[in-house]
Amino acid sequence: MDKILVIDYGSQYTQLLAKRIRDLGVYSEVVQYDDEFSLENVKGIILSGGPDSVYSEEAPDISDVILNSKIPILGICYGMQLIAKKLGGEVGKTENAEYGKTKINVVERSLLFQNFEKEFIAWMSHKDVVTKVPKGFIVTSLTVNNIISSFEDKIRKIYAIQFHPEVRHTEFGIDILKNFAVDICDLKTSWTLINFVEKKIKEIKEKIRDKKAIIALSGGVDSSVAAVLTHKAIGDNLKAIFVNHGLLRLNEVKEVESTFRDYIGLNLTTINAEDRFLEKLEGVTDPETKRKIIGENFIRVFEEEARKEKDCEFLIQGTIYSDVIESAKSGKKTFKIKSHHNVGGLPEHIELNIVEPLKDLFKDEVRSVGEILGLPREILYRHPFPGPGLAIRIIGEITKDKLKILKKVDNIFIQTLKETGWYEKVWQAFAVLTPVKTVGVVGDQRSYGYTVSLRAVDSVEGMTADWSKIPFEVLDLASSRITNQVEEITRVVYDITSKPPATIEWE
Ligand code: XMP
Repeated sequence: MDKILVIDYGSQYTQLLAKRIRDLGVYSEVVQYDDEFSLENVKGIILSGGPDSVYSEEAPDISDVILNSKIPILGICYGMQLIAKKLGGEVGKTENAEYGKTKINVVERSLLFQNFEKEFIAWMSHKDVVTKVPKGFIVTSLTVNNIISSFEDKIRKIYAIQFHPEVRHTEFGIDILKNFAVDICDLKTSWTLINFVEKKIKEIKEKIRDKKAIIALSGGVDSSVAAVLTHKAIGDNLKAIFVNHGLLRLNEVKEVESTFRDYIGLNLTTINAEDRFLEKLEGVTDPETKRKIIGENFIRVFEEEARKEKDCEFLIQGTIYSDVIESAKSGKKTFKIKSHHNVGGLPEHIELNIVEPLKDLFKDEVRSVGEILGLPREILYRHPFPGPGLAIRIIGEITKDKLKILKKVDNIFIQTLKETGWYEKVWQAFAVLTPVKTVGVVGDQRSYGYTVSLRAVDSVEGMTADWSKIPFEVLDLASSRITNQVEEITRVVYDITSKPPATIEWE
């Protein structure tokens, strides 16, 4: 399959570059600059940005094989400076470091900038600048500060830009990538995720052959898509394990079983470990201790089950690209943003080979793959659900009674959002059971029950979030249904805090 290879020099945006190109209909994948990789079927190469200075001692390099390959090259930011340095240009420090939106003036006609205006805004993030372009190259644009923002040698098809076309703030960024892929690399825009699905199924088949594999299914989008994709490749040799820790939503166990066992035909085993988890959580009120207990026991239950499987050699994981970047495992040089806390995660010492078929995809791509594989919309467009489940939505001690109350309240809230068309408009919604008891009145009687908080947020990947501006009528409907149908609740409040300063979950 013809492709554009993105060589990663450590920018946060490298995978996004590959995604933008795939969104154009051209297959693209990322390799690390110091990996061994083949140039077979590579019709274009992009050198990503990165945190280094080309003159630092450990500055990542590029091999002459690539520079002399005659394959069109586009260097971005660090990639541009690397081209300049390697081919005899000069790179220096500037006093006018440019960050953020910067005006660019096109000074020479370029295939990269065809079909749009001579002035545009681009997203910059650099300290070093190219002060002299290599022999045979011409400068094609300058920033308002007169800094070289692009240069090229159209005969050798080597192009370089200082700004980031993959970032939304760059006007015409997508056009630049398209001009590179289509006009410079001569690629067709006919690739779709259907090709990805076919390629992955083939790869999984070749890797696992007649051996067995196991997956922890959580019912969330990522593990569901990974399971179905792998099932297409190896059929019943995939064993899916669904750990019911008792902290799931109302009817969740039945829904997951009926979707995956009855509808998809997965070889699925549900482990009912509710009592085990509740026993371990008895008397525990500290949020971090709750998470730790659940995480450890989840892994233990899963391992016990995995050990029962003879000649199982592979562990399938639904890791997607945002998980990789959050735990900074992607490029060796990408800085850590946040530790991921996924209890569906990895038994690290388990002796199985890990297969992560979705690890280069973004959430929207994972959903599209799920659609191609025929997964129902209710699974694909589900709100995220945390590994520790309702345990971190019951503030204080977890009891069976409290779980029962919260499951009912949560279900009413979610159903109300679905009925009113708000479920898919918000990124995540749920209820939190607080330990606060307040006075109410039911009929003519005094009542004394729990306070529940409803929470709904708008977000992209959960790193930051705004509280959702759900109409009062919808909140009103949810509130009156909750107090009518769940007698233990006397008060309903709506959480209007964004992240930061709050987090999305309460614990
Ligand atoms: P916070 O509360 O950190 O949540 O703002 C951000 C997103 O992550 C989810 N979340 C978790 N997901 N295991 C998970 O798999 C966890 O331990 C966990 N804690 C929070 C949360 O639901 C939200 O979508």
